[in-house]
Amino acid sequence: MATVDSPLPRHDDLKADFPGLHQEIRPGVRLTYLDNAATTLKPWSVIRAVQAYDSEYPANVHRGIHALSERATEAYEAARETVARFVGAAEVEEIIWTRGTTDAINLVAQSWGRTFLREGDEIVLTDLEHHSNLIPWQMLAKEKGLILRFAEITDDGRLEDEAVERQLSDRTRIVAITAMSNVLGTVTPLDEVIAMAHDRGAIVVVDGAQGVAHHAIDVGKLGIDFLAFSGHKMCGPTGVGVLYGRRELLEAMPPAWGGGSMVTRVTREGAEWNDLPYKFEPGTPPIAQAIGMGAAVEYLSQFDAKALIAHERQLMDHAHRLMEDIPGVRILGPSPDHKGGILSMDIESVHPHDLAQLLDREGVAIRAGQHCAMPLHQRYGLMASARASAYFYNTTEDFDRLAEAIRHAIELFRDRRSRRSG
Ligand SMILES: Cc1ncc(COP(=O)(O)O)c(C=O)c1O
Repeated sequence: MATVDSPLPRHDDLKADFPGLHQEIRPGVRLTYLDNAATTLKPWSVIRAVQAYDSEYPANVHRGIHALSERATEAYEAARETVARFVGAAEVEEIIWTRGTTDAINLVAQSWGRTFLREGDEIVLTDLEHHSNLIPWQMLAKEKGLILRFAEITDDGRLEDEAVERQLSDRTRIVAITAMSNVLGTVTPLDEVIAMAHDRGAIVVVDGAQGVAHHAIDVGKLGIDFLAFSGHKMCGPTGVGVLYGRRELLEAMPPAWGGGSMVTRVTREGAEWNDLPYKFEPGTPPIAQAIGMGAAVEYLSQFDAKALIAHERQLMDHAHRLMEDIPGVRILGPSPDHKGGILSMDIESVHPHDLAQLLDREGVAIRAGQHCAMPLHQRYGLMASARASAYFYNTTEDFDRLAEAIRHAIELFRDRRSRRSG
């Protein structure tokens, strides 16, 4: 594990930043929030940043020449700069505000993909992908006669770089890959995959919805061509996300959607596109949300990225030990040294939906279902799984509570079964 330069603040101090953590979801039932892969809780600084926009300067950006609009524009563009620094973008114009990861990946598919891909071209994906990094490519493939290839994972949910290499060919134009699986937590070997893809002349689209939130991703150092991520997975508001794109690629792309603000001159017949990043931001953008995402990034930036990773690793070590002690619980995916803070399980005697409901009675919030990753569940022959996902404000005690609640659920189902058969 990487050495930590400065440890995380004391848990009580961290907890004070998150009003959502201090709750009884029903009288006497304290919340244990373990659904962070779906969305994270928001710290006060984010809540206040959004509130300040809404209450003090709720104006549109880039339009009015009046004090409120100037203030809104300044805050909105400052947030863009904060995000650009956070992911190591060379230029602030390479940061496009979107509605989220899904929107960002669709933008690449509909603009770069539609413009530059030809029949027979190949896109390499992996078995780990969220539907957001699958369906946009399937739609494009159907439209343009492209071929999708899939790098397979190992039985324990790891992605080996050779598995990606086997799918690459001279027709590969895009490798679209998650940085971290939202089901198994698997962290993918981006460095190697990017080098191999570039060797073949392919571009790399990284789904960073989980990766950016849990691991520092530096687009410059890694040589990423496109990176998509969402505000709400990293302490920010919903409804906002980012597409990072290398300037050269973005410059060559046409806008995917038309409207106001993305043009400089319009006639009845046509229009001239605005400069980056506005070419890709038609209409009124998610102003409050972008400002909130900037505040979220500032909040996260105060922590040593290695300390965040080390904390999740410690939580996963603990969680794996606890679950390995419970008969009938199978952990899906790799050991903690190959993943971030996500623990997905298949429990022999309890359906994931029943489990999630029973856990909720004890205040433990987890997710049940396919987590928008049906092919990955098919790979394991499962209809659904139960997922507990951590963030830096979670503690080992949260996982103790999870383990206890799982034991109660298993006992309840055992009792019901023996009553039925008895
Ligand atoms: C790995 C991954 N990719 C993409 C997405 C989609 O993100 P959003 O719904 O914010 O667009 C998610 C959300 O769960 C995710 O976990």
